[in-house]
Amino acid sequence: MLLAIETSCDETGVALFDLEGKLLRDYLYSQVALHSPFGGIVPEIASRKQLEVLHPLVKKALKDLGITPWDLRVIAVTAGPGLLGSLLVGVTYAKTLAFALNIPLISIDHLQAHIFSVLFERAVPFPFLGLVVSGGHTALFLVGDFDSVELIGHTRDDAAGEAFDKVAKLLGLPYPGGPQISKLAERGDPHRYELPRPMLEEDNFDFSFSGLKTAIFQLLKREKEISIEDLCASFQHAISEVLVEKTLRASRSLKVSRIVVSGGVSANLYLRKLFCERAYKEEVFFPSLSLCTDNAIMVGYLGWIKWKRGEIADLSLEAYARAPYKKGLFRK
Ligand code: KG4
Ligand code: ZN
Repeated sequence: MLLAIETSCDETGVALFDLEGKLLRDYLYSQVALHSPFGGIVPEIASRKQLEVLHPLVKKALKDLGITPWDLRVIAVTAGPGLLGSLLVGVTYAKTLAFALNIPLISIDHLQAHIFSVLFERAVPFPFLGLVVSGGHTALFLVGDFDSVELIGHTRDDAAGEAFDKVAKLLGLPYPGGPQISKLAERGDPHRYELPRPMLEEDNFDFSFSGLKTAIFQLLKREKEISIEDLCASFQHAISEVLVEKTLRASRSLKVSRIVVSGGVSANLYLRKLFCERAYKEEVFFPSLSLCTDNAIMVGYLGWIKWKRGEIADLSLEAYARAPYKKGLFRK
């Protein structure tokens, strides 16, 4: 049995796979209600809750499957990037268990887990472009294989999910902002308010979203009568257009016609629709909605792949808060 653990942020995920890579059980404890009143995640609360929840969740998973810790053969854990305190809970727990049971430990990078989550459900031939759009990250990768993941662009300031969350906060909506904004946007006109398209015309694969948030702040100050539905729709359209157009430009200039979109914001139906409309030459793949936001299934799937490939971590594994990637290839 393979045990997968995800504690990179405010979600505690535990999953059990058999050694053929089949998912047997998965559990997700969400702390959203705890953080919602603060309009964002409070790292200290997140890590304390991870500590409280992780062990009971693993015990429940083992009990539900009728197995004991001695039936475990491999442990995969998210080592980073994410909130350091939260990551430390999962990494320390996994290391301790791997040491006590004398079984292999697999280190999983959170962004790679998002990228490859799509492959758990369907085959996507390499190479492809992997766009990760989450609360903490917005990054574009050229993916040649499981061990060939090159960063080609990233956000220079806010992540796309962070922009959704911050705009929601400006509008007095609860955390997480993405689902709230997309719900209100359903009844709004995406062309009502003119908003900037940050970095759309720049000749690189980077993104920037903080200007969009500032534009909304100024619009709220300036205008007396605001339609919140139209504003949400206009914001969602602007951010989606930048994500879609810049990714398509990368795809065309690198001549990589398959695109995999993952991370929390990939659950956004408007973004999915716009990708499918504009990508007339490309194939675009998304995970199913429950795999978009943080979960342990993506950790277990990539953990299983890495275990099969013999990519074992040792017990000196350390959690890391920041993404370790440097920009690799860049071709025009
Ligand atoms: O991947 P994720 O669960 O956590 C990180 O790794 O950061 O992503 C969470 C982010 C939040 O910012 C949330 O607002 C956003 O994903 N999100 C959405 C939607 N569902 C979640 N953003 C836009 N539309 C959605 N439907
Ligand atoms: Zn994530």
